[in-house]
Amino acid sequence: MITATEQNNMTRPILNGDTSDLSPLQPSVFDQSRPGALGVSLPAVGVIEQPLETLLQGVRLRGDVPRLPEMAQLDVVRHFVKLSKLNHSIDGGFYPLGSCTMKYNPKVCDFYGMLPGLTQLHPLTPDVDSQGSLRVIYTLQEMLKDVTGFDAVTLQPAAGAQGELVGIMMIKAHFKKTGQLTQRRQIIVPDSAHGTNPASAAMCGFDIVEIKSAPNGLVDLDALKAVLGPSTAGIMLTNPSTLGLFEKDILEISRLVHDAGGLLYYDGANLNAIVGVARPADMGFDVMHINTHKTFATPHGGGGPGCGPVCVTAQLAPYLPSPNAAFDGTRYFWDSNLPDSIGRVKTFNGNFEMMARALTYLLAYGADGLKQVATDAVLNANYIRSQLQDTYEIPYNRICMHEFVMNSHKQHAMHDGLNTLNIAKRLMDYGIHPMTVYFPLVAHEAMMIEPTETECKDTLDHFIAVMKRIDDECRTTPDVVINAPHTMPIKKVDEVTAARKPALNFYCCTV
Ligand SMILES: Cc1ncc(COP(=O)(O)O)c(C=O)c1O
Repeated sequence: MITATEQNNMTRPILNGDTSDLSPLQPSVFDQSRPGALGVSLPAVGVIEQPLETLLQGVRLRGDVPRLPEMAQLDVVRHFVKLSKLNHSIDGGFYPLGSCTMKYNPKVCDFYGMLPGLTQLHPLTPDVDSQGSLRVIYTLQEMLKDVTGFDAVTLQPAAGAQGELVGIMMIKAHFKKTGQLTQRRQIIVPDSAHGTNPASAAMCGFDIVEIKSAPNGLVDLDALKAVLGPSTAGIMLTNPSTLGLFEKDILEISRLVHDAGGLLYYDGANLNAIVGVARPADMGFDVMHINTHKTFATPHGGGGPGCGPVCVTAQLAPYLPSPNAAFDGTRYFWDSNLPDSIGRVKTFNGNFEMMARALTYLLAYGADGLKQVATDAVLNANYIRSQLQDTYEIPYNRICMHEFVMNSHKQHAMHDGLNTLNIAKRLMDYGIHPMTVYFPLVAHEAMMIEPTETECKDTLDHFIAVMKRIDDECRTTPDVVINAPHTMPIKKVDEVTAARKPALNFYCCTV
């Protein structure tokens, strides 16, 4: 049961599925256009009353006068503010998206990332005139070496997935250089891996060998031993895994892979769980990517611009993308003297502003702060897990890292129509972004929850209360959950059709 206070704190729950009080879709600026409405005061007195067509006489370069919406300035402001509010954002509400780590990005990172001296520098400025920016890049490389334990870093890749591709390209370059590529064709990937892992390896021409997880959700050592051999090029591992579980046998895993002549790739998506506490290089990994948006407070790669640094051991350093920021004790410079490099992977050496943001984050937190980040992230996830374990089934229910996975089996048993998707959609009616669903694939009807360290206990308690309330609804009013969301401008869509055949509406200015 939830308390009255908890109930009051919940956002506009609609219990009976009544949608009559909901606002309709926001009309476009063209639908709101009223002839003669003006959004600006034009400087030339006397022409204000004239139609747009007259005003633009002689100004337009080609064709007919575009059909521009005519609106008052305040209405334009309200229109776009309304639209912006339709998007759920971490600055607007809780966002427990497992594995995608939506944590608060401190505004100080934006402030320093957008300093005019950094943003207005032309990317082709000679080294001698860009010492400050080169220092930012070089310092970040050095700090990431400290954090991960690796010997060298590239900041060129624009996202985690590109970092994976770059890392596997370096593994490939290494085996080519050492004459083993024709033999070492296989990359091992556990069945809990993110889809980008096998995709990156396949794009580099490797064969993917999937191994099933052990019943405890971890890498099955026997399954691993069975596939290791002279064809092994390497293994791609996420640690903690996408189930939020730490591979306790990681040292044994790295010994086995190295003994077979393979290399270990660390998918750094879950670095937030161990940052400042443990280092992937110390676990025996040879190469890793970092999703700076998940750990060091930059925007996400997909919505970007992003940054997916790749860190390597000295053995793989010769293959790093070129050029790389370097320092000779006196001056910073772009080092292009990398004869074995896999080459440039991003125009203008990456998204510089993201590097400035990530460096700001690292400097602001410091070593102790980072350790606190990881421990709080783990604490928050375990708090929610412990509070929900009697309400939802948690398949690997033990101390987790920064995230955990539960499922909707208990709720499905109450009503056939109830599933993970419905529960996730219902969360939106309470102003909370759905958790990650149906991933990892190894967990049936998965709901993957990652609160991150940036949320306070009140927010976690609110989320827990909402999840318990949805469970109550599953029991008492299942149709409300099945038909959710009720408060969104777009109701439940057929997800596959929506993704494959999106109905995109736009207005062309000339029609
Ligand atoms: C485990 C894992 N690996 C790799 C990626 C890919 O990272 P990015 O989205 O930065 O390309 C993700 C993305 O969420 C992920 O969760």
